[in-house]
Amino acid sequence: MQLNKARILLTGATGGLGRALAEQLAAGGAALLLSGRDTERLARVTTTGASEVVRLPARLDDPAELAALVEAARKFRLNALINNAGIGAFGLFAEQDWAAIERLLRADLETPLRLTHALLPWLLAQPAAAVVNIGSTFGSLPFPGFAAYSTAKAGLRGFSQALRRELADTSVAVLHVAPRAIATPFNSAAVDQLNLELGNHSDAPSAVARRIVRAFQRGGGECHPGFPERLFAWLNGVAPGLIDRALAGRLPIIKRHAAAP
Ligand SMILES: NC(=O)c1ccc[n+]([C@@H]2O[C@H](COP(=O)([O-])OP(=O)(O)OC[C@H]3O[C@@H](n4cnc5c(N)ncnc54)[C@H](OP(=O)(O)O)[C@@H]3O)[C@@H](O)[C@H]2O)c1
Repeated sequence: MQLNKARILLTGATGGLGRALAEQLAAGGAALLLSGRDTERLARVTTTGASEVVRLPARLDDPAELAALVEAARKFRLNALINNAGIGAFGLFAEQDWAAIERLLRADLETPLRLTHALLPWLLAQPAAAVVNIGSTFGSLPFPGFAAYSTAKAGLRGFSQALRRELADTSVAVLHVAPRAIATPFNSAAVDQLNLELGNHSDAPSAVARRIVRAFQRGGGECHPGFPERLFAWLNGVAPGLIDRALAGRLPIIKRHAAAP
């Protein structure tokens, strides 16, 4: 989709990746409906070049606030939805609080599905439209210490692919993005330390946003920035036993960081 024709609802616009996306989409002349929880940070998101900007704070786990955002998106006459808001939770599954797991599943899986479901009738009536789901490498390379997160992102990947195939004869493109680690506040100090020790690359949010914006301009499909992560994700699909063995060797490191205060 051409940026100067795009009218985009971007969730998580106050976050590290969201701010970079907002800035680059705005620079291309898009109209933006920006959403996040933190009102002050939302007001500070840079949008130079945007053809129109609306900022609407919303807690997406609150049904009334989610419904208000859906209503605002229709009024805004959106033609693209970017499901970017999300939360993480690093830790051993048995030791995680069930309430935290539920919060994560709601934010990372249920909310993108709900927003898409509520806005799809509107999007289907547009001459050209898009749904963009921001997943993670862990959605195709499930990782110890991230069981609930990997589950949510694998679900989001499955949803994106099924929906893309279901909408193949419509004007709605579906793009699924699976970044590797990004240097944003999303990752706790323990995750940053873990990535450092495992040698996991961490990309700048602006670089990831550039890849996403390019993929958005091309249309739907899959965007997996990051090599060799893309190769390992593929390998996990064809020979998961190899990945099981490789990650078993790293388990003591992961457990040590998961236990860090
Ligand atoms: N950072 C990484 O290493 C990484 C790697 C791969 C994929 N991703 C994915 O990239 C996306 C963006 O992550 P990020 O790194 O930019 O994270 P971030 O800096 O922590 O930002 C997360 C965003 O989500 C919003 N959010 C969270 N829960 C919400 C809720 N209940 N209602 C409304 N908004 C909510 C936050 O709003 P407030 O700030 O206003 O509270 C914030 O705007 C996420 O889907 C994440 O899973 C991240």
